[in-house]
Amino acid sequence: MSYKPNDHYARKAKDENFLARSVYKLEEIDQRFKIIFSDNYILDLGASPGSWTQYSSRKVGANGRVLSIDLKAINVNYHNTVCVQGDINDLKVEDLITKYKIDRPFDAVISDMAPNTTGSKFVDQCRSYDLCVVAFDNAQRFLKPTGNFICKIFEGEDAMPFRDELKKHFKEVHILRPKSTQSSSKEIFLIAKGFLKPNS
Ligand SMILES: C[S@@+](CC[C@H](N)C(=O)[O-])C[C@H]1O[C@@H](n2cnc3c(N)ncnc32)[C@H](O)[C@@H]1O
Repeated sequence: MSYKPNDHYARKAKDENFLARSVYKLEEIDQRFKIIFSDNYILDLGASPGSWTQYSSRKVGANGRVLSIDLKAINVNYHNTVCVQGDINDLKVEDLITKYKIDRPFDAVISDMAPNTTGSKFVDQCRSYDLCVVAFDNAQRFLKPTGNFICKIFEGEDAMPFRDELKKHFKEVHILRPKSTQSSSKEIFLIAKGFLKPNS
């Protein structure tokens, strides 16, 4: 089946004032695996246009914080949320943490980052994997012990070795292809729970 931007989930997102249909992927992951809680601090990577940020900001509430990063503008303006436009490969997240006075490690790092697709399955998979590596690097540096990590990856030869690598660093790792993922998409999500932070 082909890509259908005006499908059930796109209409539902519009009706519920979410900026993208992607919100229902995070909602399904969160409902199944219990990732985001009230008062949590969340690092949201690949956040534009902003539906995961909207979901996270609402769920963590007034005492939570969300730091969202994307190459493109993120159209969310909540008092508990900071949105930064830039390339995750170039930004220094530790500087953002200082600048925005984020006073403790994140409870969850969530990455919906995806490369612009080229038409070459192999190139797209490699670029998706590269983004996962950057997301995981940030998770290792800024996640609290026992924290959670969500990462989108395009299915390919790197996906299962990456899952296996995550298993060394988290208590449990799950794979989900959400119901709202388009049938033409190669994306799956790795959901890693219970960060085993070294020396903690
Ligand atoms: C599927 S969209 C994210 C949708 C978003 N989660 C939402 O709910 O609105 C993937 C995003 O990854 C971002 N992205 C890709 N490479 C990136 C990079 N190097 N640094 C930051 N963001 C990146 C893209 O700009 C794009 O907006």
